Amino acid sequence: MNVKEFIEGIHYVGVNDRTTSRFEALWPLPSGVTYNSYIVTGTNKTALIDGVEISACEKLRDHIKTVLGDKAPDYLVINHMEPDHTGSIKVLRSFYPEMTIVGNAKTLEMVKGFYGIENNLLKVADGNIIDLGGMSLRFTLTPMVHWPETMMTYVKEKSVLFSGDAFGCFGALTGGITDSETDTEQFIPEMYRYYSNIVGKYGVFVQKALAKLSSIKLDYICPTHGPVWHDEIARVTAIYDSLSKYEAETGVVIVYGSMYGNTEEMAEVIASRLAENGIKKIRIHNASYSHLSYILSDIFRYKGLIIGAPTYSNTLFPPIEALLQAIKTREIKNRVTASFGSCTWAPQSVKRINAVLEEARLFNGDIASPQAKQAPDATAINDCKTLADAVAARLLNSSPHT
Ligand code: FEO
Repeated sequence: MNVKEFIEGIHYVGVNDRTTSRFEALWPLPSGVTYNSYIVTGTNKTALIDGVEISACEKLRDHIKTVLGDKAPDYLVINHMEPDHTGSIKVLRSFYPEMTIVGNAKTLEMVKGFYGIENNLLKVADGNIIDLGGMSLRFTLTPMVHWPETMMTYVKEKSVLFSGDAFGCFGALTGGITDSETDTEQFIPEMYRYYSNIVGKYGVFVQKALAKLSSIKLDYICPTHGPVWHDEIARVTAIYDSLSKYEAETGVVIVYGSMYGNTEEMAEVIASRLAENGIKKIRIHNASYSHLSYILSDIFRYKGLIIGAPTYSNTLFPPIEALLQAIKTREIKNRVTASFGSCTWAPQSVKRINAVLEEARLFNGDIASPQAKQAPDATAINDCKTLADAVAARLLNSSPHT
């Protein structure tokens, strides 16, 4: 049972989920996910911070009982309305009818819209405080991290921030609850994947939230997914700062589609030449087999992005079209991009890749796009090497994290 008083007066009461296979019915969960919930106990009142997904509701109730016995929490604070955190509130309300649901104006609209709940609600605004007796909850609105109603809750007396999705990651907990008592290396790649898949579109808003939080003392960050951060607060805030500014490491992601191996051969030539140029961090994805979730995670992490595909039905090979739309949606910036492809008879693929890169403001027109007609001939192979040389030169002449 994941119940732990990790600091006096604040319990973790979240739930591990190792059975849901896709988060938001989209993103793979090979190591599961947590729905984190917390109880803050003051001398007069108690507050449950964040709920859980509906399937985890019974477990949450057991965890609450372990901490509070038969007493109901006085408040349920909703930092974020996405149903992975609120799916349980109708049932919680039936367990605890006297519990007041706390949220901002947008939250309470959604509480009504999703769950039809209109009574025993408490509306709070930016900077408002609820006094629990020796523990206070201060609310900071952080819209679009990840929905418009998103807010964070700060307990000044313990320097604890309940941050919602921010600083969260995929992966169920493996015994330890805080980063001091678990191997965080299992969670860091899942933080990149979570950010790029879920929050990646909202970098500007993450930056605004980080600025708002910059002056507060942080001893613990309690996100809605993954471990509680204590020892590694500097590390995870730096990761979020860097990702939300679309900064990246020196390295290249090559993503290609290939039906019969000809575009794939071009990808291999490009990769070999990048390595000859001294680029070590090269990640290659065949878009028909790598899940978009992992491709996006690498694209957020590395500065070089080379995309290749064949023409298909006189347009672009579908998995690469889907990838380009996902890149465009996330408004990814500051990448060294290039493209390549094959066509057999209709030279559409490279045109389409470059057109979408241009729409996404990611097109580097000065790096030529190699095209093979059928199998790549000597000219196409040579053009692939020229492309790799140009990308490597750009990367090695720019400092990392720029
Ligand atoms: Fe964990 Fe945006 O929900």
